[in-house]
Amino acid sequence: MTDNEVQRGLEDVIALESQICFIDGKKGRLLYRGYDIRDLAQYSTFEEVAYLLWNGRLPTADQREALRARLGELRTLPEPVMRIVSEMPQGGNAMDVLRTAVSALGAFTPAETGAASTSVASAERLTAILPAIIGQLHRARQGLPPVAPMTGGSHAAWILHAIRGTPATDLEIRSMDAALILHADHDLNASTFAARVTASTLSDIYSAITSAIGALKGPLHGGANERAMELLEEIGTLDRVEEVVRSKLAHHERIMGFGHRVYKVEDPRATIMREWSRRIGEAKGNLHYYELLRKEEQVVFAEKKLYPNVDLYSGSIYALLDIPKYLFTPIFAASRVSGWTAHVLEEYQDLRLIRPTSRYVGPTDVPYVSIEKRS
Ligand code: ACO
Repeated sequence: MTDNEVQRGLEDVIALESQICFIDGKKGRLLYRGYDIRDLAQYSTFEEVAYLLWNGRLPTADQREALRARLGELRTLPEPVMRIVSEMPQGGNAMDVLRTAVSALGAFTPAETGAASTSVASAERLTAILPAIIGQLHRARQGLPPVAPMTGGSHAAWILHAIRGTPATDLEIRSMDAALILHADHDLNASTFAARVTASTLSDIYSAITSAIGALKGPLHGGANERAMELLEEIGTLDRVEEVVRSKLAHHERIMGFGHRVYKVEDPRATIMREWSRRIGEAKGNLHYYELLRKEEQVVFAEKKLYPNVDLYSGSIYALLDIPKYLFTPIFAASRVSGWTAHVLEEYQDLRLIRPTSRYVGPTDVPYVSIEKRS
């Protein structure tokens, strides 16, 4: 890179050193703190993964149970935040509600602002509380009473309970757990970068996570899972996949859930999510989404040589878990908050204000014109 070269979108720019997440985009490999996500998704739980991201090592059985118990105790929304969530516009974007609620939580947790008082405990509190916000925003929209926080149970079970208000099966919980593990972190993606930029100013963790939620909302990032499901709804039946996808590509439209800035081969998370989509589809006797997505993959690859990313199959799993589409991106946030907070803690440990520069391409030496002479 020469001094004057602009790296649009900061592509290939190494902005900092991190010990949290490694992506090999050419081989399709993803490691959290050195552990392959394929092993974590198969053998671990979300709690273990969150502990790993925050502390740098996997927990013992006792440490995992202690974390689970602590998370269980942190699931109650403060009353004023509950009110804010319930009174937000019903038809609006759920990520707006999540972003506003996290911002409000920061205002109601003044002791935790500032890097010096930020520890893993803040990360645990934020992680435990996000499902409560998501559950309450959904229940308020449905006109249903709030769900009392679960005192026991896993984070995956808590998310399903907070939204649906009914107990989930083991397979439902396991599929949600796998989805949470696979979404937990992904190096300096846009939302994590946004969190680190905010933390690098020595702002507080709630401000950093509020920034991250705003970045995740966009359809080129976390919002892609909802758009991927909208496309499935538009397609409707298997015989229409080819026609609809080809027509969109012919009109230079992006097919959500495909392509990735870093992966040049299949996103390893997509491989595992595809399998879970099939498993949960078989268990529910509904392989409709799975079959549409398999066909969509074939057409997109034939046309554009693009591979699926993590967002392609996640919606099919959530839909089969009876989660409405507008909550798909908030659920992504309920997982990624573990990674965001790990990065914020790392940023505080090795702080350097993130402040890139731009190449100015506007005019110079413009003569000043007084207001009465301007046309
Ligand atoms: N559908 C159609 N064409 C695509 C897609 C897609 N999903 N993705 C990339 N392309 C095409 C572009 O049109 C472009 O073609 P061109 O060179 O003929 O103009 C080429 O591939 C390169 O695309 P870029 O946008 O330069 O690639 P970039 O690395 O910036 O994009 C991104 C990565 C934003 C994820 C892109 O692949 C995309 O828009 N995908 C759809 C949105 C999506 O699924 N986002 C989720 C990503 S994973 C996550 O955030 C959790």
